[in-house]
Amino acid sequence: MAKARHILTRLKGSSRRDKSIRNSARISDRTLARILITGASGGIGQALALRYAAPGRTLVLWGRNATKLRILAASCQERGAHVLTREVDLTDGQAALRALREDDDSTPLDTVILCAGLSDMKQGHEKTEQAETVLELGLVNYATPAALTMAAADRMAQRGGGSIALIGSVAAYHDLPFAAGYGGSKAGLARFASSARLALAPLGVRLTLIAPGFVDTAMSQRIIGPRPFLVTPDAAAARIISALKRDQPEIIFPWPFAVLRIIDQLTPRILRDAIMRRVSADQRPRGD
Ligand SMILES: NC(=O)c1ccc[n+]([C@@H]2O[C@H](COP(=O)([O-])OP(=O)(O)OC[C@H]3O[C@@H](n4cnc5c(N)ncnc54)[C@H](OP(=O)(O)O)[C@@H]3O)[C@@H](O)[C@H]2O)c1
Repeated sequence: MAKARHILTRLKGSSRRDKSIRNSARISDRTLARILITGASGGIGQALALRYAAPGRTLVLWGRNATKLRILAASCQERGAHVLTREVDLTDGQAALRALREDDDSTPLDTVILCAGLSDMKQGHEKTEQAETVLELGLVNYATPAALTMAAADRMAQRGGGSIALIGSVAAYHDLPFAAGYGGSKAGLARFASSARLALAPLGVRLTLIAPGFVDTAMSQRIIGPRPFLVTPDAAAARIISALKRDQPEIIFPWPFAVLRIIDQLTPRILRDAIMRRVSADQRPRGD
């Protein structure tokens, strides 16, 4: 009798496993079809679009720079993708939400990659970070992507699932006295991502947080000084795509930044503060 119960339990388990394998196959087929990328006019977003561009795929590419979007769209179309572009300024969260819902009405989205972002820090001559810049960083890097995540997840859940990636930063894991606005916006995004992942998983919506170190794009090219462990935008795109495919909760790359995060967590605050007070950084103004 006990043996029969055991066999029955194993059969139930294997049928559950088969069902979950079927579900994940269904999700991974679907995630390849219709993809929205914000910040597609920037370095990492553009590399993602080019890697995803293929016959059978629809790419919805967002950015502010119409010329860059047009050139990228042509390259993606040459690779066989169907492409739609949209100019959106993420400082206007309400407009961004309307745009997402409009795009999702016409192109039900399987994957949403919220890549757009802005970095800034206190310039050498300034006493404090600019208040307006801190506000902008909060809107572009945290508030609007968080709202877009929920809007996309709501639609995806109604269709049975989908995938979302949020592009954060390793800056989220350290107290950077010269970039409290940037670090804080990415730290908010990181906590949002880990909480939302738990909430959305039962709805079939998968969420991955990506935390890059230095990537060789216009953003990091403004930094004055070294950019250790620099990676190319294409290498970053490959890591992001692989993390999404494997439904990883969070990835930090390149790996030395994952080690740094652990060291930061293990270091007593008094020592950490003393070290971070001595760290300085500067970057060229935007648009230079
Ligand atoms: N590069 C790095 O070293 C690094 C490191 C860690 C994390 N990241 C993160 O990676 C993501 C992509 O950055 P990237 O390196 O590709 O930088 P990038 O080349 O400067 O591109 C930034 C993208 O964000 C868009 N964007 C900026 N402000 C916007 C706004 N107000 N509304 C709408 N779009 C806006 C830009 O659009 P337009 O160009 O059309 O204005 C551009 O497409 C960001 O979230 C960034 O924080 C980058």
